[in-house]
Amino acid sequence: MLNTGSSTYVCLVFACCLCCNKAMPTSLNQEAVNDRPVIGILTQIVSDEAMKPFGRTYIPSSYVKFIESGGSRVMPIRLTLETTEYEKIFRNINGLLLIGGSADLKTSDFARVAKIFYRLALTANDEGDFFPIWGTCMGMQLLTVLVAGENLLEATTAENVALPLNLTPEADSSRMFEGFPSSLMKALTQEPLTGNFHHYGVAVKTFKENEKLQSFFSLLSTNIAENGVHFVSTIEGKTHPFYGVQWHPEVNRFQWKRKQNYPHSAHAVQLSSLLAEFFVNEGRKSLHQFDNPEEEASSLIYKDTPIYAGNFTGYEQIYFF
Ligand SMILES: *[C@@H]1O[C@H](CO)[C@@H](O)[C@H](O)[C@H]1NC(C)=O
Repeated sequence: MLNTGSSTYVCLVFACCLCCNKAMPTSLNQEAVNDRPVIGILTQIVSDEAMKPFGRTYIPSSYVKFIESGGSRVMPIRLTLETTEYEKIFRNINGLLLIGGSADLKTSDFARVAKIFYRLALTANDEGDFFPIWGTCMGMQLLTVLVAGENLLEATTAENVALPLNLTPEADSSRMFEGFPSSLMKALTQEPLTGNFHHYGVAVKTFKENEKLQSFFSLLSTNIAENGVHFVSTIEGKTHPFYGVQWHPEVNRFQWKRKQNYPHSAHAVQLSSLLAEFFVNEGRKSLHQFDNPEEEASSLIYKDTPIYAGNFTGYEQIYFF
């Protein structure tokens, strides 16, 4: 067992060096060969007064379950480390999830750490070392700030409303929706399968007028905010495995507050499942790994315990750090 393990390890390291040395942009269609992926989730800064007694940063369990349901393990990433420590973590994990929440997209620790990983991922992918990033809600907004180099958000309130997506023609040839059955693609445009809980977003007009966003991302879907503004609701990198949704796929299966319009229909659940599987499969294309099993075990979220938060937040359970 031990021998097999170490030879696999050597092969993976070798394969990684090979592809890094080629210095060719990553192929988005490469094979998913890593069946033990670990996706990092950046912790989020606590801003809700009711949550402050429990910790300075947190991850709602729904995001953890979302990633785990796709067949990956999760590493929580704290916001208090040095740049060199994030560089080390980057070499250990196979993808990154930027979750929703409330933080300054330029000056917060969340933004600072996200930027470090974003730059590492950009360079890695450009050199053939596949590394995916997924941004949900504020995580997607942050991706647009990182790509554009400026904050282009404006008021696009869609608070506690489930919507169908207005898919663009590019959605048909997207990677994100490639494996979807046609029945679900149809449902996606007709049924309220996507939960929206946001006040800001990127207007479609702004997206189309911004050279950097326009050339970096394909626009897969749009929606209309309460104030009538058309906003960007789903994007994916044209040549980088970076994905963003202004809506919340994790709530469809893992959040249940009655007052919240979380979509729980069979199609809503299928949508959430397929997106989790899609993103984790992107993680399987990354060959990054921990230096040894002990380091891996001590880094994963399994040793942390979420607390019940259903009686003081919109979440059911939360990990605090
Ligand atoms: C929430 O429920 C837990 C477990 O029953 C309890 O210990 C805690 O005091 C409750 N919190 C609030 C704010 O009601």
